[in-house]
Amino acid sequence: MSAKKAVPKRHSRKPVSAEKVRVLIARGRVQARVTEIARQIRKDFPDEPLHLVGVLKGAVFFLSDLARRIPGEVSFDFLAVSSYGKDANSSGQVKITRDLDSSVEGKTVILVEDILDTGLTLQYLLRIFEQRKPKRLRIAVLLDKPERRIAAVHADYVGFTIPNEFVVGYGLDYAERYRNLPDVGVLTLPGAKGKEGTRK
Ligand code: IMP
Ligand code: MG
Repeated sequence: MSAKKAVPKRHSRKPVSAEKVRVLIARGRVQARVTEIARQIRKDFPDEPLHLVGVLKGAVFFLSDLARRIPGEVSFDFLAVSSYGKDANSSGQVKITRDLDSSVEGKTVILVEDILDTGLTLQYLLRIFEQRKPKRLRIAVLLDKPERRIAAVHADYVGFTIPNEFVVGYGLDYAERYRNLPDVGVLTLPGAKGKEGTRK
C-alpha cells in the first residue's frame, strides 16, 4: 500500500454549480394547493373509489401527496412515457415505455401529470385511455404552461398556471436532476441570456 494521497478522479461531467434555481412556488404553497385539489377531487366524486394514474417520473411526489390527502377509497398505478421532438415543428411522438399493472376499465381514473406543456403527452394518453373504457377520466396537473400549448388539452385540476419558463423541483427534472427539491423553481443554465432556463 502506498502512503501517497489519492488524487481525486476528475469527473467528465460538466460542473452543475453554474446552474441556478430561483424559487417560483415555495414548498408551503405547493403543499397547500395539493390539499385543496385533493379536497376538490373528493367533492366532485363523493362516493366512489378513485384510481390515480401517475406519469413517471415527474408526477411521483404530486401523486403521493395527493393520494394521501384524498379521503376515502383510493388506489393508484403508474405508467411511463417517452417523447421525441416536442417542438412546434416536430411530430411530438409519444410512446408508453412502462404500462399499468391493472386495467382501468370501469374505474374513475384521475390521470396525474407534473406539467401540461405542449399538451402532446396528455393528448396521446387521453386517446389511449379512452379506448380502455374507464368509467370516468379526469386530468390533474400540478403546473400548466398555457403559452406552450400545441394540442388542445384541458386539465380538470390545475395546481398553478406558470409563465413559459423551464422549471424543476417537486418531481420535475433537468437531465434527471432537481426532482428532489421540495419547491418548484426556475432553472437558469450558465450562459443563458434573457429568459431563464429556456431549454426548448
Ligand atoms: P408536453 O407533452 O409538452 O405537455 O410535456 C409534458 C412533459 O414535458 C412533462 O411531463 C415534463 O416531463 C416535461 N416538461 C415540460 N415542461 C417542463 C419544465 O418546465 N420542466 C421540466 N419538465 C418539463
Ligand atoms: Mg421530464
